[in-house]
Amino acid sequence: MAKKTNKSKTLPIHILNGPNLNLLGSREPEIYGKTTLAQIGKAAAARAKSHGFSTLFLQSNKEGELVELIQAARTTASAVILNAAAYTHTSVAVLDALKMLSVPVIEVHLSNPARREDFRHKSYVAMGATGTIAGFGLNSYLLAIDAVAQIIKGKKT
Ligand code: DQA
Repeated sequence: MAKKTNKSKTLPIHILNGPNLNLLGSREPEIYGKTTLAQIGKAAAARAKSHGFSTLFLQSNKEGELVELIQAARTTASAVILNAAAYTHTSVAVLDALKMLSVPVIEVHLSNPARREDFRHKSYVAMGATGTIAGFGLNSYLLAIDAVAQIIKGKKT
């Protein structure tokens, strides 16, 4: 019998970034480092490629736009990696959008909010995430990609 070929294309990992992350590199470098968002996007694409995935890397300063990007991921992403930045600590709308996803969701942060001001200790995103990676700078994103690859490949075997 002829072997079935699986030509279905793997959906990209959506990596979504919230407010003020567009200014990484010059924004509070003592906390967030000197790496720019563009450099993170490039490194993330390379790491994802090593696992056989592509990425869609986006940033918005607007809460409603982030909600729309999360909604769109329902049918267009194989996973979502989200650094919601300040909206992490305030946005029920982002949490409600995440709850509609059936793909893995990894919350990431460059810094470790648990070591910072009290208001950063609450994460609405965490309540809608598969897991959280924080405190490793650029590496938080790369570890999140490794986690996504493991989750998805684990499901297939
Ligand atoms: C951040 C942590 C948030 O508390 C903060 O509002 C950010 C960046 C991080 O990546 O460390 O904007 O999400």
